[in-house]
Amino acid sequence: MRLLQHLTALIIFIASPQAWSNPEEDRQLFLATFAGNIPDVPISQYIYGSMMLSEDALNQYESIMDFPPFQEMVDQGKKVWETPFKNGQTFANCFGNKGTNVAGTFPYYDTTHEQVVTFEMALNFCLERNGETRMSYVDPETMGALSAYARSLSDGMLMQIEVPNAQALTKYELGKSLYFKRIGQYNLACASCHLTHGGRYFRDELLSPTIGQAVHFPVFRGGERLYTLQMRYQRCMEAVGAVAFESGSETLNNLEFFHSYLSNGLPLQSSVYRR
Ligand code: HEC
Repeated sequence: MRLLQHLTALIIFIASPQAWSNPEEDRQLFLATFAGNIPDVPISQYIYGSMMLSEDALNQYESIMDFPPFQEMVDQGKKVWETPFKNGQTFANCFGNKGTNVAGTFPYYDTTHEQVVTFEMALNFCLERNGETRMSYVDPETMGALSAYARSLSDGMLMQIEVPNAQALTKYELGKSLYFKRIGQYNLACASCHLTHGGRYFRDELLSPTIGQAVHFPVFRGGERLYTLQMRYQRCMEAVGAVAFESGSETLNNLEFFHSYLSNGLPLQSSVYRR
C-alpha cells in the first residue's frame, strides 16, 4: 500500500515537472522514493553514492581516502587561495566568514543580478573584482584545484540551499525540468537513472541516488582525474549521447540549484575518490 502511494505520487510528480513546485515537497518525495527502493540504508550513507551498497567499494574508498593520491592538487589550490592578488586582496576577503563554512549555501539566487550563482562563479567574480583573470570552469588545474581547496573549508557544513522567492523558484523549476527531460540518442533523463534507478542497477552500472550527489564535489575519478559537479553533469549528458551544456552556463547553474537543494541537510565533504 505504501509503495502504491509512492508510485502514485511519483507518477504525478513526473507527469507535471513544469507545475509550480514546492522544493521541500520535491525533496520529501525523492526521499520517500529512495526509502522505498533502497530499504535499510540510512540517508546519511547517501553521501557515498553507489558505494554505499557495497562493503568492498566502501572499504576501498576508506583506504584510498587515508592517503589521497590527489592531495597535491588540493595543496596546489590552497596555494592559489592563499596567494594575495596584485592589489593585496585575497579570495578569503570575497566571502563571508573568510570562506569557511559557506559552500553549503551555494548555489544561491542573487536577487540583484537575477541569476543563480554557483560557488565556482563566486570564485571567478572575486578574481574579476580584483582585476585578475577569470579561470575556465573546465580546467582541473586552475578552477578545479582552487575549488577543491576552497570547498574543503566547508567540509562538515550541512547543505542549506534556499529558494527564497518566486524568481528563485523559476530558476529552480528550470533546473528541475532539465532533470526530468529525456535527452540524447538514448532518450534518458537524469531522473531515469538517478531517481528511478538510484541505488539500483541500470544495465551493468550501480547508480547513485540523486540525494547526496551534490555534497562531495569535486571528485577525483580513479583517484586522479578531477571533476567539478558541472563537469560530472556534462559527462552524464555525453554518456546518453547528448551535446552537453557548458559548465558555467545558466542552464547548468539552474540544474545545480535544483540538484543541490535535494541534498539539503547532508554534510559537505569535498575532494573524494570516485571510480
Ligand atoms: C544512463 C544513465 C545516466 C543518466 C541518464 C545520467 N547519469 Fe549521472 N551517472 C551515471 C553513472 C553510471 C554514474 C557513475 C555511477 C554513480 O555514481 O552513479 C553517474 C554519476 C553521476 C554523478 C556523480 C555521483 C557521485 O557520487 O560521484 C552525478 C552528480 C550525476 N551522475 C548527475 C547526473 C545528472 C545531473 C544527469 C542528467 C543531466 C545524469 N547524471 C544523467 C549514469 C547516468
